[in-house]
Amino acid sequence: MSTSTFEALELRGVGRTFGGHEALKGLDLTVRRGEFIALLGPSGCGKSTALNCIAGLLPLTHGEIVAGDRRVDTLPPEKRGFGMVFQSYALFPHLTVERNVAFGLQMQGVPRHEQKQRVKDAIAMVKLEEHATKLPGQLSGGQQQRVAIARAIVLEPSLVLMDEPLSNLDAKLRLDMRAEIRRLHQSLGLTTIYVTHDQEEALSMADRLVVLRDGRTQQIGTPAELYDHPANWHVADFMGYRNLLDGTVTQIAGDTATVNLGSFELHGHVAGPLAASARVRVAIRPDDVVVTASAADAIDGNAIKATPSVVEYHGREFSVTALTDDGLRLNVKAATAPVQGEPATFTVRAERALVFPEELA
Ligand SMILES: Nc1ncnc2c1ncn2[C@@H]1O[C@H](COP(=O)(O)OP(=O)(O)O)[C@@H](O)[C@H]1O
Ligand SMILES: [Mg+2]
Repeated sequence: MSTSTFEALELRGVGRTFGGHEALKGLDLTVRRGEFIALLGPSGCGKSTALNCIAGLLPLTHGEIVAGDRRVDTLPPEKRGFGMVFQSYALFPHLTVERNVAFGLQMQGVPRHEQKQRVKDAIAMVKLEEHATKLPGQLSGGQQQRVAIARAIVLEPSLVLMDEPLSNLDAKLRLDMRAEIRRLHQSLGLTTIYVTHDQEEALSMADRLVVLRDGRTQQIGTPAELYDHPANWHVADFMGYRNLLDGTVTQIAGDTATVNLGSFELHGHVAGPLAASARVRVAIRPDDVVVTASAADAIDGNAIKATPSVVEYHGREFSVTALTDDGLRLNVKAATAPVQGEPATFTVRAERALVFPEELA
Protein backbone atom coordinates (compact mmCIF):
# COMPACT_ATOMS: atom_id res chain seq x y z
CA MET A 1 0.00 0.00 0.00
CA SER A 2 2.93 2.24 0.73
CA THR A 3 4.08 4.73 -1.85
CA SER A 4 7.46 4.01 -3.42
CA THR A 5 10.03 3.13 -0.82
CA PHE A 6 13.76 3.50 -1.18
CA GLU A 7 16.87 2.22 0.51
CA ALA A 8 18.47 5.64 0.46
CA LEU A 9 17.48 9.17 -0.43
CA GLU A 10 20.43 11.08 -1.79
CA LEU A 11 20.81 14.81 -1.76
CA ARG A 12 23.60 15.78 -4.13
CA GLY A 13 24.81 19.34 -3.94
CA VAL A 14 21.32 20.61 -3.24
CA GLY A 15 21.16 24.39 -3.27
CA ARG A 16 18.62 27.17 -3.39
CA THR A 17 19.16 30.85 -3.99
CA PHE A 18 16.68 33.69 -3.51
CA GLY A 19 17.68 36.61 -5.69
CA GLY A 20 21.44 36.61 -5.17
CA HIS A 21 21.20 35.12 -1.68
CA GLU A 22 22.29 31.50 -1.16
CA ALA A 23 19.79 30.23 1.40
CA LEU A 24 21.12 26.69 1.01
CA LYS A 25 24.46 25.76 -0.50
CA GLY A 26 25.66 22.39 -1.72
CA LEU A 27 23.94 20.08 0.76
CA ASP A 28 25.22 16.51 0.35
CA LEU A 29 23.37 13.98 2.46
CA THR A 30 22.41 10.33 2.19
CA VAL A 31 19.33 9.47 4.23
CA ARG A 32 19.11 5.75 4.80
CA ARG A 33 15.74 4.05 5.07
CA GLY A 34 14.57 4.00 8.69
CA GLU A 35 16.85 6.83 9.75
CA PHE A 36 15.82 9.81 11.83
CA ILE A 37 17.75 12.84 10.63
CA ALA A 38 17.63 16.24 12.32
CA LEU A 39 18.48 19.46 10.48
CA LEU A 40 19.77 21.76 13.19
CA GLY A 41 20.79 25.40 13.21
CA PRO A 42 19.77 28.90 14.21
CA SER A 43 16.87 30.76 12.65
CA GLY A 44 17.57 31.72 9.05
CA CYS A 45 20.28 29.10 8.44
CA GLY A 46 18.31 27.37 5.69
CA LYS A 47 16.56 24.48 7.46
CA SER A 48 13.09 25.13 6.04
CA THR A 49 14.58 25.84 2.63
CA ALA A 50 16.25 22.41 2.69
CA LEU A 51 13.07 20.69 3.82
CA ASN A 52 10.91 22.49 1.27
CA CYS A 53 13.35 21.55 -1.49
CA ILE A 54 13.05 17.90 -0.46
CA ALA A 55 9.26 18.16 -0.23
CA GLY A 56 9.00 19.80 -3.63
CA LEU A 57 7.47 23.01 -2.32
CA LEU A 58 10.55 24.88 -3.59
CA PRO A 59 12.40 24.15 -6.83
CA LEU A 60 16.15 23.59 -6.44
CA THR A 61 18.54 26.00 -8.08
CA HIS A 62 21.46 23.53 -7.75
CA GLY A 63 21.95 19.80 -7.41
CA GLU A 64 19.59 16.88 -7.49
CA ILE A 65 17.67 14.53 -5.21
CA VAL A 66 17.56 10.82 -5.93
CA ALA A 67 15.40 8.19 -4.19
CA GLY A 68 16.71 4.72 -4.92
CA ASP A 69 17.49 5.05 -8.61
CA ARG A 70 14.78 7.59 -9.32
CA ARG A 71 15.36 11.31 -9.62
CA VAL A 72 12.67 12.98 -7.52
CA ASP A 73 13.53 16.69 -7.47
CA THR A 74 11.83 17.09 -10.84
CA LEU A 75 8.55 15.60 -9.54
CA PRO A 76 5.70 17.68 -8.10
CA PRO A 77 5.22 17.31 -4.31
CA GLU A 78 2.27 14.91 -4.52
CA LYS A 79 4.23 12.54 -6.78
CA ARG A 80 7.11 12.21 -4.30
CA GLY A 81 5.11 10.28 -1.71
CA PHE A 82 6.48 12.27 1.22
CA GLY A 83 4.49 13.37 4.28
CA MET A 84 4.81 16.88 5.73
CA VAL A 85 4.17 18.21 9.25
CA PHE A 86 4.44 21.96 9.81
CA GLN A 87 4.87 24.13 12.88
CA SER A 88 1.49 25.72 12.15
CA TYR A 89 -0.35 22.34 11.93
CA ALA A 90 -2.13 23.54 8.74
CA LEU A 91 -5.35 21.64 9.51
CA PHE A 92 -8.68 22.32 7.80
CA PRO A 93 -10.64 24.15 10.54
CA HIS A 94 -14.07 23.15 9.21
CA LEU A 95 -13.30 19.42 9.05
CA THR A 96 -13.39 16.99 11.97
CA VAL A 97 -10.25 15.18 13.08
CA GLU A 98 -11.35 12.11 11.13
CA ARG A 99 -12.01 14.02 7.96
CA ASN A 100 -8.74 15.94 8.26
CA VAL A 101 -6.90 12.64 8.52
CA ALA A 102 -8.94 11.10 5.69
CA PHE A 103 -8.34 14.00 3.30
CA GLY A 104 -5.16 12.72 1.67
CA LEU A 105 -6.62 9.23 1.24
CA GLN A 106 -9.65 10.72 -0.51
CA MET A 107 -7.34 12.65 -2.82
CA GLN A 108 -5.57 9.41 -3.63
CA GLY A 109 -8.87 7.71 -4.36
CA VAL A 110 -8.40 5.02 -1.72
CA PRO A 111 -11.61 2.91 -1.40
CA ARG A 112 -13.96 4.01 1.38
CA HIS A 113 -13.77 0.94 3.61
CA GLU A 114 -9.99 1.01 3.48
CA GLN A 115 -9.99 4.76 4.21
CA LYS A 116 -12.07 4.14 7.31
CA GLN A 117 -9.74 1.52 8.72
CA ARG A 118 -6.57 3.45 7.99
CA VAL A 119 -7.97 6.66 9.50
CA LYS A 120 -9.00 4.73 12.60
CA ASP A 121 -5.55 3.17 12.91
CA ALA A 122 -3.75 6.49 12.42
CA ILE A 123 -5.94 8.22 15.00
CA ALA A 124 -5.29 5.41 17.47
CA MET A 125 -1.59 5.67 16.76
CA VAL A 126 -1.53 9.29 17.98
CA LYS A 127 -3.98 8.49 20.79
CA LEU A 128 -6.84 10.73 19.70
CA GLU A 129 -9.64 8.14 19.63
CA GLU A 130 -11.83 10.20 21.97
CA HIS A 131 -11.47 13.28 19.81
CA ALA A 132 -12.09 11.80 16.37
CA THR A 133 -15.31 13.71 15.72
CA LYS A 134 -14.15 17.08 17.09
CA LEU A 135 -13.09 20.11 15.08
CA PRO A 136 -9.47 21.34 15.34
CA GLY A 137 -10.70 24.45 17.21
CA GLN A 138 -11.92 22.22 20.03
CA LEU A 139 -8.46 20.71 20.55
CA SER A 140 -5.33 21.86 22.39
CA GLY A 141 -2.18 22.74 20.44
CA GLY A 142 -0.63 19.38 21.25
CA GLN A 143 -3.71 17.51 20.08
CA GLN A 144 -3.84 19.53 16.87
CA GLN A 145 -0.22 18.64 16.18
CA ARG A 146 -1.10 14.97 16.71
CA VAL A 147 -3.81 15.35 14.08
CA ALA A 148 -1.25 16.82 11.70
CA ILE A 149 1.05 13.87 12.37
CA ALA A 150 -1.80 11.36 11.87
CA ARG A 151 -2.66 13.07 8.60
CA ALA A 152 0.91 12.60 7.42
CA ILE A 153 1.43 8.99 8.57
CA VAL A 154 -1.94 7.72 7.32
CA LEU A 155 -0.53 8.01 3.79
CA GLU A 156 2.31 5.64 4.72
CA PRO A 157 4.85 8.01 3.26
CA SER A 158 8.30 6.79 2.29
CA LEU A 159 9.68 9.87 4.04
CA VAL A 160 8.21 12.13 6.74
CA LEU A 161 9.34 15.75 6.77
CA MET A 162 8.74 17.78 9.92
CA ASP A 163 9.44 21.50 10.22
CA GLU A 164 9.75 22.57 13.87
CA PRO A 165 6.54 20.70 14.71
CA LEU A 166 6.81 21.34 18.46
CA SER A 167 7.67 25.05 18.47
CA ASN A 168 4.16 26.18 19.35
CA LEU A 169 3.82 23.84 22.32
CA ASP A 170 4.73 24.47 25.94
CA ALA A 171 7.87 22.94 27.43
CA LYS A 172 6.28 19.96 29.17
CA LEU A 173 4.24 18.96 26.15
CA ARG A 174 7.28 19.34 23.90
CA LEU A 175 9.06 16.70 25.94
CA ASP A 176 6.11 14.30 25.72
CA MET A 177 5.72 14.85 21.99
CA ARG A 178 9.44 14.28 21.37
CA ALA A 179 9.11 10.81 22.82
CA GLU A 180 5.85 10.29 20.95
CA ILE A 181 7.32 11.21 17.57
CA ARG A 182 10.34 9.02 18.20
CA ARG A 183 8.04 6.13 19.18
CA LEU A 184 5.97 6.52 15.99
CA HIS A 185 9.13 6.73 13.91
CA GLN A 186 10.35 3.45 15.36
CA SER A 187 7.13 1.48 15.53
CA LEU A 188 6.07 2.43 12.00
CA GLY A 189 9.55 2.05 10.58
CA LEU A 190 9.44 5.58 9.18
CA THR A 191 12.22 7.55 7.59
CA THR A 192 12.15 11.03 9.07
CA ILE A 193 13.81 14.38 8.43
CA TYR A 194 13.12 16.71 11.32
CA VAL A 195 13.93 20.41 11.39
CA THR A 196 14.64 22.14 14.69
CA HIS A 197 16.69 24.99 16.17
CA ASP A 198 16.70 23.19 19.53
CA GLN A 199 19.90 21.19 19.98
CA GLU A 200 18.52 19.19 22.89
CA GLU A 201 15.55 18.15 20.80
CA ALA A 202 17.82 17.18 17.91
CA LEU A 203 20.27 15.27 20.11
CA SER A 204 17.56 13.35 21.92
CA MET A 205 15.60 12.35 18.82
CA ALA A 206 17.90 11.92 15.87
CA ASP A 207 20.14 9.10 14.69
CA ARG A 208 22.20 11.69 12.83
CA LEU A 209 22.28 15.46 12.79
CA VAL A 210 23.07 17.94 10.06
CA VAL A 211 24.25 21.25 11.50
CA LEU A 212 23.68 24.22 9.20
CA ARG A 213 24.93 27.78 9.35
CA ASP A 214 24.25 30.45 6.73
CA GLY A 215 23.04 27.76 4.35
CA ARG A 216 26.25 25.78 4.63
CA THR A 217 26.65 22.34 6.14
CA GLN A 218 28.93 22.53 9.16
CA GLN A 219 28.90 18.88 10.15
CA ILE A 220 26.94 15.66 9.72
CA GLY A 221 27.18 13.00 12.39
CA THR A 222 25.65 11.05 15.24
CA PRO A 223 24.80 12.92 18.44
CA ALA A 224 27.89 11.42 20.12
CA GLU A 225 30.18 12.40 17.23
CA LEU A 226 28.97 15.98 17.25
CA TYR A 227 29.02 16.21 21.01
CA ASP A 228 32.53 14.84 21.44
CA HIS A 229 34.11 16.00 18.20
CA PRO A 230 32.44 19.15 16.92
CA ALA A 231 33.95 20.20 13.60
CA ASN A 232 34.25 23.89 14.47
CA TRP A 233 33.43 26.31 17.27
CA HIS A 234 30.04 27.03 15.77
CA VAL A 235 29.00 23.39 16.11
CA ALA A 236 30.61 23.29 19.55
CA ASP A 237 28.52 26.29 20.55
CA PHE A 238 25.40 24.41 19.46
CA MET A 239 26.49 21.28 21.31
CA GLY A 240 26.63 23.00 24.68
CA TYR A 241 30.26 24.08 24.83
CA ARG A 242 29.22 27.18 26.70
CA ASN A 243 32.75 28.44 27.23
CA LEU A 244 34.16 29.93 24.05
CA LEU A 245 37.38 31.69 25.00
CA ASP A 246 39.35 33.75 22.51
CA GLY A 247 43.13 33.58 22.57
CA THR A 248 46.33 33.15 20.60
CA VAL A 249 48.34 30.00 20.00
CA THR A 250 51.83 30.20 21.51
CA GLN A 251 52.94 26.65 20.85
CA ILE A 252 51.84 23.48 19.10
CA ALA A 253 53.22 20.06 20.07
CA GLY A 254 51.55 17.13 18.34
CA ASP A 255 47.85 17.49 18.93
CA THR A 256 48.25 19.76 21.93
CA ALA A 257 48.19 23.54 21.55
CA THR A 258 49.18 26.07 24.18
CA VAL A 259 46.91 29.07 24.08
CA ASN A 260 47.46 32.47 25.65
CA LEU A 261 44.17 33.78 27.03
CA GLY A 262 45.47 36.99 28.56
CA SER A 263 46.05 36.41 32.26
CA PHE A 264 46.51 32.66 31.90
CA GLU A 265 47.48 29.89 29.49
CA LEU A 266 45.64 26.71 28.61
CA HIS A 267 46.75 23.49 27.01
CA GLY A 268 44.08 22.22 24.67
CA HIS A 269 43.37 19.71 21.96
CA VAL A 270 44.05 20.83 18.39
CA ALA A 271 40.56 20.51 16.87
CA GLY A 272 41.09 22.23 13.53
CA PRO A 273 43.84 23.47 11.22
CA LEU A 274 45.97 25.83 13.33
CA ALA A 275 48.92 28.00 12.40
CA ALA A 276 51.50 29.17 14.94
CA SER A 277 50.29 32.37 16.65
CA ALA A 278 46.84 31.90 15.12
CA ARG A 279 43.84 33.57 16.71
CA VAL A 280 41.78 30.73 18.16
CA ARG A 281 38.63 30.00 20.08
CA VAL A 282 38.86 27.44 22.87
CA ALA A 283 35.61 25.53 23.45
CA ILE A 284 34.98 23.91 26.83
CA ARG A 285 31.82 22.33 28.22
CA PRO A 286 30.73 23.45 31.69
CA ASP A 287 30.81 19.85 32.94
CA ASP A 288 34.44 19.49 31.89
CA VAL A 289 35.58 22.29 34.20
CA VAL A 290 36.46 21.18 37.71
CA VAL A 291 37.14 23.15 40.88
CA THR A 292 40.56 22.23 42.24
CA ALA A 293 42.11 22.78 45.65
CA SER A 294 45.17 24.60 44.35
CA ALA A 295 47.05 25.44 41.17
CA ALA A 296 49.42 22.56 41.99
CA ASP A 297 46.53 20.10 41.53
CA ALA A 298 45.54 21.48 38.14
CA ILE A 299 45.06 18.81 35.47
CA ASP A 300 47.48 19.01 32.52
CA GLY A 301 48.84 22.25 33.96
CA ASN A 302 45.56 24.04 33.25
CA ALA A 303 44.90 26.35 36.19
CA ILE A 304 42.36 29.13 35.79
CA LYS A 305 41.99 31.56 38.66
CA ALA A 306 38.47 32.94 38.81
CA THR A 307 35.98 34.24 41.33
CA PRO A 308 32.50 32.70 41.46
CA SER A 309 29.94 35.46 40.96
CA VAL A 310 26.82 33.33 40.59
CA VAL A 311 26.25 29.93 42.21
CA GLU A 312 22.90 28.30 41.39
CA TYR A 313 21.60 25.02 42.72
CA HIS A 314 20.23 22.81 39.92
CA GLY A 315 19.08 19.69 41.70
CA ARG A 316 22.07 17.40 41.38
CA GLU A 317 24.71 19.99 40.69
CA PHE A 318 25.60 23.63 40.91
CA SER A 319 25.77 25.93 37.97
CA VAL A 320 28.57 28.40 38.60
CA THR A 321 29.56 31.56 36.78
CA ALA A 322 33.08 32.68 37.65
CA LEU A 323 35.03 35.69 36.44
CA THR A 324 38.78 35.79 35.85
CA ASP A 325 40.75 38.88 36.89
CA ASP A 326 40.55 40.29 33.39
CA GLY A 327 36.83 39.68 33.11
CA LEU A 328 36.60 36.39 31.20
CA ARG A 329 33.44 34.56 32.14
CA LEU A 330 33.66 30.86 32.94
CA ASN A 331 30.57 28.60 33.03
CA VAL A 332 31.07 25.62 35.30
CA LYS A 333 28.97 22.67 36.50
CA ALA A 334 30.14 21.62 39.94
CA ALA A 335 29.14 18.78 42.27
CA THR A 336 29.96 20.90 45.30
CA ALA A 337 29.44 24.64 45.42
CA PRO A 338 32.47 26.94 45.50
CA VAL A 339 32.07 29.97 47.76
CA GLN A 340 30.64 32.98 46.03
CA GLY A 341 33.07 35.91 45.96
CA GLU A 342 36.06 33.83 47.03
CA PRO A 343 38.77 33.31 44.39
CA ALA A 344 39.11 29.65 43.37
CA THR A 345 41.16 27.62 40.92
CA PHE A 346 39.43 25.81 38.08
CA THR A 347 40.95 23.21 35.84
CA VAL A 348 40.15 21.26 32.68
CA ARG A 349 41.72 18.29 30.94
CA ALA A 350 43.65 19.43 27.89
CA GLU A 351 41.81 16.83 25.83
CA ARG A 352 38.48 18.48 26.67
CA ALA A 353 39.54 22.03 25.82
CA LEU A 354 39.04 22.08 22.06
CA VAL A 355 41.14 24.62 20.19
CA PHE A 356 39.52 25.82 16.96
CA PRO A 357 40.66 28.39 14.41
CA GLU A 358 38.66 31.56 14.99
CA GLU A 359 37.65 31.85 11.35
CA LEU A 360 34.94 29.51 10.14
CA ALA A 361 35.42 27.90 6.76
N1 LIG B 1 10.68 32.76 -0.17
C1 LIG B 1 11.82 33.38 0.17
N2 LIG B 1 12.21 34.50 -0.46
C2 LIG B 1 13.36 35.13 -0.15
N3 LIG B 1 14.20 34.72 0.82
C3 LIG B 1 13.86 33.61 1.52
C4 LIG B 1 12.66 32.90 1.24
N4 LIG B 1 12.60 31.83 2.08
C5 LIG B 1 13.70 31.90 2.85
N5 LIG B 1 14.47 32.96 2.52
C6 LIG B 1 15.76 33.32 3.13
O1 LIG B 1 16.60 32.19 3.11
C7 LIG B 1 17.30 32.06 4.34
C8 LIG B 1 16.98 30.74 4.99
O2 LIG B 1 15.62 30.73 5.39
P1 LIG B 1 14.94 29.47 6.05
O3 LIG B 1 15.26 28.28 5.25
O4 LIG B 1 13.51 29.80 6.23
O5 LIG B 1 15.67 29.38 7.47
P2 LIG B 1 15.31 28.54 8.77
O6 LIG B 1 14.18 27.61 8.45
O7 LIG B 1 16.58 27.83 9.12
O8 LIG B 1 14.95 29.53 9.82
C9 LIG B 1 16.93 33.27 5.17
O9 LIG B 1 17.90 34.24 4.98
C10 LIG B 1 15.60 33.67 4.60
O10 LIG B 1 15.38 35.05 4.77
MG1 LIG C 1 12.25 27.50 9.33
